Amino acid sequence: MSALFQPLDIGRLHLPNRIVIAPMCQYSAQDGSASDWHLIHLGHLALSGAGLLIIEATAVQAEGRITPGCLGLYSDANEAALARVLEGVRAYSPMPIAIQLAHAGRKASSRAPWEGGAQIPLGEAGSWRALAPSALPHIEGEDAPDALDHAGLARVREAFAAAARRAARLGLDGVEIHAAHGYLMHQFLSPIANRRSDEYGGSLANRMRFPLEVFEAVRAAFPSERPVWARVSATDWIEGSGWDVDDCIVLARELAARGCAAIHVSSGGVSQRQKIPVGPGYQVPLARRFKDAVDVPVIAVGLITEAQQAEAILQRGDADAVALARAMLYDPRWPWHAAAQLGAQVTAPVQYWRSQPREFKDLFAGLRFGAR
Ligand SMILES: Cc1cc2nc3c(=O)[nH]c(=O)nc-3n(C[C@H](O)[C@H](O)[C@H](O)COP(=O)(O)O)c2cc1C
Repeated sequence: MSALFQPLDIGRLHLPNRIVIAPMCQYSAQDGSASDWHLIHLGHLALSGAGLLIIEATAVQAEGRITPGCLGLYSDANEAALARVLEGVRAYSPMPIAIQLAHAGRKASSRAPWEGGAQIPLGEAGSWRALAPSALPHIEGEDAPDALDHAGLARVREAFAAAARRAARLGLDGVEIHAAHGYLMHQFLSPIANRRSDEYGGSLANRMRFPLEVFEAVRAAFPSERPVWARVSATDWIEGSGWDVDDCIVLARELAARGCAAIHVSSGGVSQRQKIPVGPGYQVPLARRFKDAVDVPVIAVGLITEAQQAEAILQRGDADAVALARAMLYDPRWPWHAAAQLGAQVTAPVQYWRSQPREFKDLFAGLRFGAR
């Protein structure tokens, strides 16, 4: 019996299998509002048979977008645009859908990757002044962000809560808070980006304070029967300094104590000095550390590309679920092919049932058809 195709509960959210579609920015929104691209993109991923689809990093404030094209959930127009996309997707897919709520902090005001990904200098079209724990640019020589004062912190916290209320109204099944990849939450956690001297900087407890406050605000704003969890960077990958896995385990325990329903374990993103040992499943050993430390489901991610590899990660108990990003873009039917390889079943749209290969007679759950 395949472990990958066993169901999993994240809080009270039931996933039919343990394949998670990782959040992926599309840089294709207008003023934060989802476009037809989102309907196409999320629509086809939602036909993949995965257990959960996580919508891309979605900014809670306009200033919290990474690029001018990033998705947002900070206005009525953003909410209406996403409602339209979700209505289209849900008409044809039963897949649970969560959203990643995010704030880019000092990595905001950037160009899209296909435009080079650099900071848009202040004064140029599309630029804005970024916000961060400290007035330190991400890269030396870039325009420095403004350090958030107490009123600014309160605005960001409330923006997360307001976006969570919008996500609730949209009927989204879960919220993932983006606390990874060098964005605002991670900037507070890492001493590399956080040089504050108030109660939000310095000691580990102080650096965790704002991310934990944001978690509490989101948890309180989202219906209690639907899960909220966090994606973390387990290490900055900088020898001898920065945020590391022991710190992150302390954070994960604090989050779990506040009702965090899962931990999604990624890494890096806060500094150009990082040295990431990229290779197949390179973040799985980090996920394993959390499996041994917290009682909530742990999601592993990072170059998990093969069905047997994903199956082995779960069989070994290194994680409770696996998330895939690039492999899902390359092959949006990855879960179908994995199910075929592992002798399991997936949900496929009725319109595609006739594609079931002859050698996999039980692949599509519920399959039947007739003709006259
Ligand atoms: C196009 C693209 C967009 C991404 N956007 C996000 C994002 O919005 N939020 C996030 O946490 N990670 C994002 N990531 C990182 C992925 O979620 C994932 O952690 C990373 O790609 C490693 O997994 P993979 O090897 O399966 O691609 C993105 C990755 C890609 C390729």
